[in-house]
Amino acid sequence: MGTRVAVAGASGYAGGELLRLLAAHPELEVVTVTGRSSVGRTVGDVQPHLRSSADLVLQETSAEVLAGHDVVFLALPHGESGALAAQLPDDVLVVDAGADHRLTSEDDWHAFYPGEWHGAWTYGVPELLTAGGTVRSELAATKRIAAPGCNASAVSLALAPAIAAGLVEPDDLVAVLAVGPSGAGRSSRPDLSASELLGSAHAYAVGGTHRHTPEILQNLALVTGVRGSISFTPVLVPMARGILATCTATLAPDATERRLRAVYEEAYGGEPFVRVLPAGRFPAVEHTIGANTLLLGLALDAAANRLVVVAALDNLVKGTAGAAVQSANVALGLPESAGLPIDGTAP
Ligand SMILES: NC(=O)c1ccc[n+]([C@@H]2O[C@H](COP(=O)([O-])OP(=O)(O)OC[C@H]3O[C@@H](n4cnc5c(N)ncnc54)[C@H](OP(=O)(O)O)[C@@H]3O)[C@@H](O)[C@H]2O)c1
Repeated sequence: MGTRVAVAGASGYAGGELLRLLAAHPELEVVTVTGRSSVGRTVGDVQPHLRSSADLVLQETSAEVLAGHDVVFLALPHGESGALAAQLPDDVLVVDAGADHRLTSEDDWHAFYPGEWHGAWTYGVPELLTAGGTVRSELAATKRIAAPGCNASAVSLALAPAIAAGLVEPDDLVAVLAVGPSGAGRSSRPDLSASELLGSAHAYAVGGTHRHTPEILQNLALVTGVRGSISFTPVLVPMARGILATCTATLAPDATERRLRAVYEEAYGGEPFVRVLPAGRFPAVEHTIGANTLLLGLALDAAANRLVVVAALDNLVKGTAGAAVQSANVALGLPESAGLPIDGTAP
């Protein structure tokens, strides 16, 4: 038997995507799945597209049920994993897809989330630049991983190389994102209904209130130590999954397109899952659907004196479950790409 895995929240979108990816993983075997309202039902019943784990029965989400596994993935609403994770043994690898362990600042937590702050875990974006290299080296020595927010990973990876190199001003960042409603989870909400969304688009969490804002600023300060500022606006559009993030920043005086391309190539040229497209090319969401890839297109808008980075990813793969599995691979000493597709499903 391979490495024994439990997935909590397996009836949700992020949990379902974890099951889909883990079914193709050569080393990790999902033996336990849990939920809340779907306890007692099978995966085949609540996630009919997941044929290979169809017979697994959802159990209650508790520390007792999650005990006895080598790896536990938590895909629960934010606020639900902190207390639960604290009851799991230290030697178990725990990967939280929720927000409970992402923020290093307790003040940030209380400014954006209700409830108790549970402390920060190693951030689950291996490619993210740090003062010492990338987060990858920290993941290799951890038993606790906080998978990223989907919007936060898109914007952070899009802007980090330019900020780290001092080629843009960190206090004048703007990101406007087209996002699909699966980013908000499976539970029904009027603004996510087909009648509100099909044939339309609307912004939400406008004016600096979105919960991924402090996570992005935390990520972008990792190299320089300077907390910048960002105007961040997500726009719900009628695509089930995916994020297209258009991120811009004021250029530093010595920034040139050649230098900018060079720092992005240096940061991501060796990365299997982050690809910088050639000059003049920009990604579309459909190029990333189902894949653990983030695609980036760069342009220098000389008239506006701004760098423009367009980033596309699948919120449920590179934005959540793929990042979780990729980070777990690093922590377990497995090949980082194990079980992770790089090809999308377009059209
Ligand atoms: N969706 C994304 O694109 C995305 C991206 C990044 C991160 N995340 C994070 O991943 C986590 C899960 O998101 P999601 O989109 O998968 O949400 P979701 O579709 O609403 O699924 C939530 C899951 O949690 C279970 N659950 C709900 N309340 C619970 C409780 N009080 N105790 C235990 N289990 C409970 C649900 O079980 P039942 O269905 O059985 O009731 C379901 O399995 C969230 O923290 C979210 O922020 C999601």
